Amino acid sequence: MPSTSEPTAAAPASLLDLVPVVPVVVLDELDQAVPLAKALVAGGLPVIELTLRTPVALDAIRAIAAEVPEINLGAGTVTTPQQAKEAAAAGATFLVSPGATPRLLDGMLETGLPFLPGTATVSEVLAVLEAGLTEMKFFPAEASGGAPYLKSLASPVAAARFCPTGGITAATAPSYLSLPNVGCVGGSWLTPADALAAGDWARVEALAREAAALR
Ligand code: 3PG
Repeated sequence: MPSTSEPTAAAPASLLDLVPVVPVVVLDELDQAVPLAKALVAGGLPVIELTLRTPVALDAIRAIAAEVPEINLGAGTVTTPQQAKEAAAAGATFLVSPGATPRLLDGMLETGLPFLPGTATVSEVLAVLEAGLTEMKFFPAEASGGAPYLKSLASPVAAARFCPTGGITAATAPSYLSLPNVGCVGGSWLTPADALAAGDWARVEALAREAAALR
């Protein structure tokens, strides 16, 4: 249960329209989780995608859910139905996966949480649309063709909307955000490892503020 009187983030109508940039975080130290989430909120980005790539990830989700309930709390790098279940139980309010097999899609649907399944090819995009979902991640964005690739999909696969992630920077984000089929981008540049290690929350807050103004 949340331990503060802050309002809990309401379930969003669209994960893609919350913020222009979703901070993607790989966290090694549990004690960084709460101050980091607070810095993002203070910077105007009340969203975090905490990747399930480190041993502390689920505990970090639990800590943020308890202490920063106003943030939209995503679990990223979800690659199995079991991880989807564990992330939901820990308090995640949305899920993000790097790819989307039928089994993984079912596992994420079973949580009842909104989620962004990963896609990188036209056939993968069509498979996600066939599953009844129109919002998805495009990953790894830069390596898969970047903004020109997504621009090419806008007309033939008009129903799909994307959060491209992977290799995007503050400099390249605007080229994605200007596309009609992109709602937001994801990136790790807002939470540099050296800032986390130094506890430089003012820097994270400043990077978040710049990103929040990008659209
Ligand atoms: C990831 O899965 O790590 C995200 O796509 C973030 O990628 P980035 O570190 O290249 O921003």
